[in-house]
Order: sequence, then C-alpha cells, then structure tokens
Amino acid sequence: MKALEKFSGRTGPLVLVVLDGVAIGKEDEGNAVFLAQTPVLNSLRKNSVYCELQAHGTAVGLPSDKDMGNSEVGHNAIGSGQIYDQGAKLVGEAISSQQMFRGDTWQELRKNCVENDTCMHFIGLLSDGNVHSHIDHLLGMLTKAHEEGVKKARVHCLLDGRDVSETSALKYVEQLENHLQQISASGNDYKIASGGGRMYITMDRYGADWEMVNRGWKVHVLGEGRTFSSATQAIETFRSEDPGVIDQFLPSFVVGDENGQAVGKINDGDSVIFFNFRGDRAIEITQAFTSESFDKFDRVRHPKVKYAGMMQYDGDSKTPELFLVQPPLIRNTLGEFLAKNNFSQFAISETQKYGHVTYFWNGNRLGKFSDALEIYQEIPSDSVPFEQRPWMKAAEITDAVIENIEKHNTKFTRLNYANGDMVGHTGDITATTISVSAVDMCLGRLLKYIEKKQGIAIVLADHGNADEMYEKDSKGNFVHNEITQKLKNKTSHTLNPVPFAIFDPQYNNEYKINDDVQKKGLSNVAATVVNLLGYEAPNEWQPSLIVFE
Ligand code: 3PG
Ligand code: CO
Repeated sequence: MKALEKFSGRTGPLVLVVLDGVAIGKEDEGNAVFLAQTPVLNSLRKNSVYCELQAHGTAVGLPSDKDMGNSEVGHNAIGSGQIYDQGAKLVGEAISSQQMFRGDTWQELRKNCVENDTCMHFIGLLSDGNVHSHIDHLLGMLTKAHEEGVKKARVHCLLDGRDVSETSALKYVEQLENHLQQISASGNDYKIASGGGRMYITMDRYGADWEMVNRGWKVHVLGEGRTFSSATQAIETFRSEDPGVIDQFLPSFVVGDENGQAVGKINDGDSVIFFNFRGDRAIEITQAFTSESFDKFDRVRHPKVKYAGMMQYDGDSKTPELFLVQPPLIRNTLGEFLAKNNFSQFAISETQKYGHVTYFWNGNRLGKFSDALEIYQEIPSDSVPFEQRPWMKAAEITDAVIENIEKHNTKFTRLNYANGDMVGHTGDITATTISVSAVDMCLGRLLKYIEKKQGIAIVLADHGNADEMYEKDSKGNFVHNEITQKLKNKTSHTLNPVPFAIFDPQYNNEYKINDDVQKKGLSNVAATVVNLLGYEAPNEWQPSLIVFE
C-alpha cells in the first residue's frame, strides 16, 4: 500500500453511511425524500464535496440501463470497487446461449426425473423484476425440461409486488399458466402447485423471521394449507377477502385436484430448483432443503431430493452444493484490502440490512477477512410492518457507531440506515417521508460526532426507492388506481441517481471531484475511501471520485 503524496487523511475515523433507498428524484408530490425534513442532507448537497452517482443498470453490472438498482449489486459495487456482471445478466446469458442446460447440474437434476419418473419442482419469485429472479428464466427452464423428456413439473410461485407493481401477480401467473398449458397439451403434466406473497412465505433473509420459511415449507413441501383449484382462484379470493392487500403480503395457498389433494407435494426422489439468482432471501429455504441437522423449525418430513440453486448463494459454506450458473467471483474487495493493510473496521446495520454491509459488501461471502481487525454488529429489527415504525433502528445504529468508535478507535466504519428502502417498499408515502426525516436527524447527530473526532464521513445511497412513491407511466405522468382513483402506490426501487457527499470539516481544498471520471457510479467509491485514508487505491478498481490539487 502506497501513501499519497499530497494527502495523508485525517486523524479521526472515516465513516461511510449508506442511506438505503434514498436517491435524487423529480421534486414532486410523489418524492418522499423531497417531502421529508432533511436539513442535513440539504446542507451536504450545498456545502460539501458532492456529486451524483449512477446506481442502476450497467453501472452496477446489470443487463441494461432499464434495470433498476438494488442492494445486492449496489453493495457489491461499493464494497468491491469493481463492476462485475451480476446474476441477472449471467443467468440470462446462460439460458439464451443454452449453456446452462449443457452443465452438469441441469443434466443431473433432469436425468434424475427422467430415469426415475419423478417430478421436477421449481420454486422462486414470479416476476420480471430482475432483482432476485426473472420469469423468463423459469419459462426457459420449463421449455427445456419438456424438450428433454421431463414428464412432470410443478411450480411453487412466490408473488412479488415489491420489485414490480404492487398488484401485478395475476399478469405473471397468467403468463406462466399459458406456458404450462402449452407444454401439458403434448401429454406432459406441468402445473402450479403452491404459492404465496414473498413477504409472507419462504423469502426471509438474515434470520429475521424463520416462521416465513416454515410457512413456505408447509405449502411447497408438505402440501398443507388453504387449498384452491388454481393460483388465480387463490389470488382472486384473497383479494376479495382483504381488499387493498398487496401481492407481497398475500397469504399462502396450495393447489388441489378435484378431491382437494395437493397436486405438488415434494417427495423423495424429486428434483428441486430454486430459481432465484440472488442469495440473501434464498439461503434460508436452501438450508431447510439441504441441511441434515436443521433446527430452525420442525420440517415434519425432509424429502431426499436433488436440490440446486440458480446460483451458489455462499461460496465459503458452499450453499447450496449444486447450482446452475456460476456466480460472479467478486475478489479483492475493499474489506479485504483494509484488513490486509491493518485497518480496523466496523460494519453495522439492523437485521434487514445487516447482510448488506457484511455479506454483499464483501462480495457475497458470509465470513470476515480478519477476526482481529473487524467487528460486525447487528441491531435486531422490529418485527412489525415497517410503516408502523418508520424510524426503525436508525437511532440505535447511530448510538452503536459512536460507542464502537469511542471504545475501539475504529478507523473505518460502514453503516446502513435501512429506512428509506424498507419503508419505501411498503408504498406508504407518509411513513416513508417520516422514515427519511428520521434518518436525516440521526445523520446530523452522527456528523456532529465525526466533526468532534476530526474524522470524515462519506454519505451516499445504494439505489433509489423513497424518491418515487407513486407509479408513473412512460411519459412520466402519475398513474391512478383503477378502483380508488387515487394515485397508485409504488413499492419498487427507482432508476434515479444517488447522492455522494464527503463531509470533511477540516477540508482545505486539498481535493475536488474528478470530472475526468465520465460515468460516475457506485464502483468508484472504494478507491475514494482508500484515498481519503491517505493511500493509493489498487489499480484493478474503478478510479477514485476525487483528485488532489
Ligand atoms: C427485497 O429483497 O426486499 C427487494 O427485492 C429488494 O430490496 P433491496 O435490494 O433493497 O434489499
Ligand atoms: Co429495497
């Protein structure tokens, strides 16, 4: 590691603050960041070294600039200083080139069904959000399974409404049903077997609520639950019973035959593909299938199946062992660089985003680089709907950062305030506005402390969400809900750029934003961190956002 000639950093801590889901959008009635009380953010914009960063599309390794950003690709890019082709792109290419189907895992799972006359199950998020999954990947696999002799397949679909429009489930179910019917017309037996809202079953993350996974297990594996003749009937019934319910929270269901028997329990000898490519919400259900000594809930029955993930979700623990597409091998990250060069590090968030500043930050690895130098802290998230507690754990995270620096004199801290994103996903604009105000207030307290310690803070976001709380059409006009005639809530992320501010009270014009960096994005942050510590960044990273005078 080489020291910079012109800048030796500050004596105090360097603290990187991710304001999850807080981007810069059009200043209108749907922008909760604009509507919130944000004196601290406003002052950072005016009075600090500041620019905007791309946080979506090709800037973070997604297939196209139509793809919104998300926390996985955002934290991967910030934490590694590099742009890797991400799951969405790698899987899309592996399927369109048919390479995935020539691989050992696909062939092993397929042969298992063909040779033993067993069923191929597909479980995953049914939408084209391209954050965790894409429906085209599922349709491609079903087509191939049919072409390659698999007679029976079952789909267990998790309804989205979080990465896509909040009540769009029937559109995807219809698309899937049509595809299954076409395949079944030639004598095969392909059906939807179970499902439910993604925030109600199966897709828990970071151990926040294992009961979700248990509820998913019951309908997918045991075939136990409220039974309907089709997924469409289930969704329509749930909506009529609870008008206003949005897809991500729909209850679970089982599809039954004419006698009410589940059409698609998962049995010994079957093959199971979990078709999400993103790992955070895939790891727990994967463990339920693959772990022998599982104790998170009573599985009742643990079928002996061949189980594969779309990707390997954690390379260190090999979860799962079988996977269809090689994940990006993210190496030489900022965390590793700092550990090798003897900097102390602290990573903190609340449960919902804890893995973002650890697992995603470190290139989708669950472990640390150095036990001696790194402390990771998780503040347990509330387990209530987040619109009821929009302040979430911002104050507690702030307290813990200050406490940690006081105690350990930590040089580099990274933290994530989950509010703008987690409350933004509820679609509740009032709560989201409060959530952003709460974060701004905590940020103000943190910056005061950093100033006292003669440190620096970098304040940025990983992608947008709170900055657009109502859906717009392609011309940018607000869309109205057909029934209520009110503006239609938007629950998903946005394509907007994110703020990037360097709060450095001792700043004396030693550096400025480097306008030679053309398309400034999240992957330029890691090199900037190392520069602000007073060192040159590794050459393989994207260039720093600052240049020294
Ligand atoms: C989720 O998993 O909650 C959403 O699909 C994406 O949100 P995140 O990328 O902000 O975690
Ligand atoms: Co989000």
